[in-house]
Amino acid sequence: MIKSMKTFLNRLLSVMLMMTIASCVSETSEVNAQPSTYMGKTLVAYYSYTGNCRDIVDALTSKITADVIEIKPAEKGLRYEANGYALGKQLLNAIKAAPDDEASYPAIDPVSVSLQGYDNIIIVTPLWWSQMAAIMQAYLFSYGPQMAGKHIGLVVSSSSSSIGQVVADCRRLVPDATWMGDALWINDGNRSRMPSLVDEWLAKQDFQTSAEIKNMFITIDGQAQRVALTNNEATKALVERLQEGPVTVTLSSNGDFEIWGALGFSLPTDNRQINAVAGDVILYNGNNICIMYGQNSWSYTHLGRIEGLTEAELRSFLKAGQSNIAVTLSFTEEITAIHDAPAQTSKNTFYSLDGRRIGRSANGAFIANGKKVIL
Ligand SMILES: Cc1cc2nc3c(=O)[nH]c(=O)nc-3n(C[C@H](O)[C@H](O)[C@H](O)COP(=O)(O)O)c2cc1C
Repeated sequence: MIKSMKTFLNRLLSVMLMMTIASCVSETSEVNAQPSTYMGKTLVAYYSYTGNCRDIVDALTSKITADVIEIKPAEKGLRYEANGYALGKQLLNAIKAAPDDEASYPAIDPVSVSLQGYDNIIIVTPLWWSQMAAIMQAYLFSYGPQMAGKHIGLVVSSSSSSIGQVVADCRRLVPDATWMGDALWINDGNRSRMPSLVDEWLAKQDFQTSAEIKNMFITIDGQAQRVALTNNEATKALVERLQEGPVTVTLSSNGDFEIWGALGFSLPTDNRQINAVAGDVILYNGNNICIMYGQNSWSYTHLGRIEGLTEAELRSFLKAGQSNIAVTLSFTEEITAIHDAPAQTSKNTFYSLDGRRIGRSANGAFIANGKKVIL
């Protein structure tokens, strides 16, 4: 009874949270709720002057769940195509003359959607004078740096000009992205097949999914340890929470087998009688975290496990016996975590920015030998 009340309250809280997020997002964007093929959070950012890119966005969001933001110029009613497309050319020339100067870019309406928490971003833009439309360039000039490490896809619409320079513009404006795959080019010659081309393109893209994140890090006093996460609803919710930034909790020793304390938020529970042992990371009562340096049997939800440390090493790392220990949970950019995990610091071992071990062939930004590397 209590459990079902809790589940109900948890669900109510989730619905309220979703409604709050939706109402924040909808100020500047439409939110789509189509069934998802991909598990990571995806944002589609588009600009459209004559509607072609808007049609592409409709096709994309009929296939994947994505939040959508439309980038709009601050100055309304301009006719970029007037006088032989002269205004469009003028805006692009200003950017070309000083691409690093914010003043070179046309003003756009404020965009209040935070990029935090999105795994994938698809940019949909028209081509102007063989370049990326100036309005989209203005958005990416401001927000491209925040897309570092995310999976970025690009869709370009033109009449007939090829899109090589638009791809180059995108790479300049989003410098540290992990590119999903080749950009999709829709033009007047293939526009009638656009929906199926979008389908095919989506199927080929390397989407990042939240479910792929298999590790987090626990940092205490500058020392970090990798935690192999259990695959359940609690860790999925925890990963989503950590995508917004690291969480620091204050834990204290208890019963000579754990440090524990409040998370400050609730996670979905899958409680069952567990014989927790040293190294286990546990959710207790939905909103407390326990990190074990000894053994205890209780009704818990398993979150993960610190592997490769002896009980004595765990006791030392977790400051067994002490109170008010600051413990940081995180999953991104934990370069120190890799430095501090000697067993995993082999010269030939590579990690994605979210701490996943990856093959050497990966392009984009990754961590190698404890350092962030961009290819
Ligand atoms: C200012 C301006 C410049 C353009 N320059 C080109 C061009 O150089 N080559 C081309 O093939 N299409 C060009 N186009 C056409 C657009 O790329 C094409 O119509 C695109 O599909 C428009 O997308 P939208 O309807 O979402 O705005 C230009 C359009 C504008 C408004």
